[in-house]
Amino acid sequence: MLLHLSTWPETEDFLRRSTTVVVPIGSNEQHGPTGLLGTDWLCPEIIAHEAQKNADILVAPTFNIGMAQHHLDFPGTIALRPSTFMAAIGDWTRSLAHHGFTKIFFLNGHGGNVATIEAAFSELYADASFAGRSAGFACKLTNWWDLKGVFRLAQQQFPVGHGSHATPSEIAVTQWAYPDHVKAANYAPQIAPSGPIREAKDFRSRYADGRMGSDPGLASPEKGGELVKLAAAGLVEAVRAFEAPGA
Ligand code: NI
Repeated sequence: MLLHLSTWPETEDFLRRSTTVVVPIGSNEQHGPTGLLGTDWLCPEIIAHEAQKNADILVAPTFNIGMAQHHLDFPGTIALRPSTFMAAIGDWTRSLAHHGFTKIFFLNGHGGNVATIEAAFSELYADASFAGRSAGFACKLTNWWDLKGVFRLAQQQFPVGHGSHATPSEIAVTQWAYPDHVKAANYAPQIAPSGPIREAKDFRSRYADGRMGSDPGLASPEKGGELVKLAAAGLVEAVRAFEAPGA
């Protein structure tokens, strides 16, 4: 069930069956010369939307802007600073908790988001702790590539040239979902360099076309479909485990 295509009475009915909600979260940022700007929010959205076709889970609108300051020298990137991101995650969570959702499952598509999302959870819990009350909800963060079996499959599909940004696995997922938007380029070098992440000027000088350690030319819609199928099953399993009493 997709929240944005549901009504409030349908949402109220869902809350009688479950108080768990999945929030895809990512970033809108450059993904090399052939990766879609939306890659990091499209991947968790594609997986969550696929998962809800076969299971009674509720998927909230995608939180599609995140921690991308280091990509700002590439056009199309939109970034939140950490303090803004944390404040926004807090209000999303408080809104959902206000309706009675008690398990908030963030399915993440951007490694650069992890520290700040976890810090946002700590802020939410601290509010409750200092006030001496129960938070009334639990938050969980899972990266889509950490769902059961997914990382292993990506390693099998791309033993060389996977890298860490504009990876063939994430680009394959978007190619499967949006086959009319598959792009091509001559990569030079074929596998991009690796190194640290600092501010935007430093990033563009180190990684000329925006990739990090990857060869996106290895991606295919077929490989993306395999990843989505496995990840969607893993998401349902992870959501069911999270909504169990005491989890
Ligand atoms: Ni990415």
